Amino acid sequence: MDHFAEQLIHGRSHISPKRLGEPGPSAAQKETILLAANAAPDHGRMVPWRFIEIQQESRNALGEVFYQCLLDRDLNATPIQLQEAREKALRGPLLLLAIVNYADDTNEISKEEKLVSLGCAVQNVLLSAYALGFGSGLSSGKALQSPRLRSLFHLTDHEDPICFITIGMVTKNKPGRKRPGLSEYHSIF
Ligand SMILES: Cc1cc2nc3c(=O)[nH]c(=O)nc-3n(C[C@H](O)[C@H](O)[C@H](O)COP(=O)(O)O)c2cc1C
Repeated sequence: MDHFAEQLIHGRSHISPKRLGEPGPSAAQKETILLAANAAPDHGRMVPWRFIEIQQESRNALGEVFYQCLLDRDLNATPIQLQEAREKALRGPLLLLAIVNYADDTNEISKEEKLVSLGCAVQNVLLSAYALGFGSGLSSGKALQSPRLRSLFHLTDHEDPICFITIGMVTKNKPGRKRPGLSEYHSIF
């Protein structure tokens, strides 16, 4: 891979948040990473997304939501499972929640386009973090569908939480996955 862009694009891989440790990005690096989002394609220039940073002081509140969400869907969850749900919120030095915003007075841009724009913004964030030497991982999970999470982050009715982004130093890594071959996703018409 000769080109910087290829090294960046193909070098990044998903790192589990439990394998992302300190140090996280400095304030300046964090700004660089977050500013990468605003270069995403954005039809109509609506900025149909935002990112909430969950600082360390707020991690326990998020952990409580994960805990309660697990109880909501499984009253028989074991204490260990409940503890694990809580601890998920503590992982990684930088934790962002990626939110899509479907609000649109013009009705010109479809929801799908807005979601694609968020996806591009997320990828820009991941690549920027990778370029600065950090690992990153996306995580979703059932809690994202819960009113508890919406209420914790004061989401509007037009917004949906899509995934968490964890960024930090890679403490341990697994071999990256095999990527799909061209024939799996390309055809000529
Ligand atoms: C919206 C979104 C949510 C994701 N949520 C999870 C998750 O909850 N757990 C997980 O292990 N990976 C999650 N991933 C990461 C994918 O598993 C990962 O990108 C995929 O395995 C491809 O690996 P790569 O990113 O290293 O190419 C998510 C990816 C996306 C796009």
